[in-house]
Amino acid sequence: MPMEIMGRGFQQILRESPLYFHIFSKYLGYKLFNKKSPLYGSADIINVCNLHCEHCYWWLNRKENEDLTLDQWKKVIDEKFKKNHVFIVTLVGGEPMMRQDVVKLFVKEFPKRACVVTNGTYPIPFLKDIYFYWISIDGDQKTHDEIRGENAWGKTRKNVLDYVNTNGDKAWKDIWITMTINSKNLHTIKTVINDWKDYSNKIGFQFHTPFMPGDPLWVPFGDERTQVINEIIDMKEGTFKDYIINPTSQLELMKSSWGGKGTTPVDCPTWAIISVDHMGREKLPCCIGSAENKSMKPRCEECGLGCYSVLVGYGMKG
Ligand SMILES: C[S@@+](CC[C@H](N)C(=O)[O-])C[C@H]1O[C@@H](n2cnc3c(N)ncnc32)[C@H](O)[C@@H]1O
Ligand code: SF4
Ligand code: SF4
Repeated sequence: MPMEIMGRGFQQILRESPLYFHIFSKYLGYKLFNKKSPLYGSADIINVCNLHCEHCYWWLNRKENEDLTLDQWKKVIDEKFKKNHVFIVTLVGGEPMMRQDVVKLFVKEFPKRACVVTNGTYPIPFLKDIYFYWISIDGDQKTHDEIRGENAWGKTRKNVLDYVNTNGDKAWKDIWITMTINSKNLHTIKTVINDWKDYSNKIGFQFHTPFMPGDPLWVPFGDERTQVINEIIDMKEGTFKDYIINPTSQLELMKSSWGGKGTTPVDCPTWAIISVDHMGREKLPCCIGSAENKSMKPRCEECGLGCYSVLVGYGMKG
């Protein structure tokens, strides 16, 4: 089997070596001189969504219904992401598949370095140079539909299977599953793995991050959460070694508070990811925050976000 790291083949890694140089020097700059320069980017490319999921942070701060043109996005790409030599850019929203023109622009500007987080309810286009699609799955069929709306699971299932079955024998590699664990779906993790493992390359887990104290979807720190995480670690160290993408160091962190106090990040390396909203404005403190001061704030103390905790697990801090 040809060598692969994070879905990247050997040839690709060779082609990208100048980029790795940038990433490596950023990492060294951080380790040796505490120099903080962003490694990743995230962009809310659209301010519209076709779903209204129960757990969603995006709806909490959504206001005006404006979007940028392609030319404006090109400017954001150059000024925010390329200038900073970010390695991977993640496209979010709203629902990014409702702005396929912008998705195509990012994929063209960042070949094999742009991934799209999608609810999967729209047909998934084959884009030769996409890194991969993160498909959000929030439990078994029943729980996913309770959280995401009637027949959301069925639509996503059909679109993923159509993608995998019509785009050649390697198409499954483009599909990665992301599950946000909350108090409703925490006992459906094994079912999610069994439902999707034959049609996807990887699965990543993160935990629901609340914006207010007492959010019933948050899974409290304690025995139940620890047990769920231990089960994921067991699967990762057993049958699903190559499928579950979270490193054990990150999963261990998720057992307790790792990011900050109240709504203030402390250990969280917010500097490592430049996040822009649908107008290209930088969001604070992180990709689920907002460019506006008066917005609702995520509770760092109870954070379960994967993209930042993975960096803390690798020794990068705020
Ligand atoms: C806001 S959505 C945007 C992309 C697309 N609409 C989707 O659902 O995949 C991005 C990801 O954030 C997750 N998410 C939403 N609210 C969250 C929260 N409060 N805590 C952690 N993750 C959350 C979603 O499940 C989804 O995987
Ligand atoms: S589909 Fe994505 S953006 Fe839309 S409400 Fe659900 S989680 Fe939020
Ligand atoms: S990812 Fe956001 S919410 Fe979580 S600890 Fe960091 S800044 Fe706070």
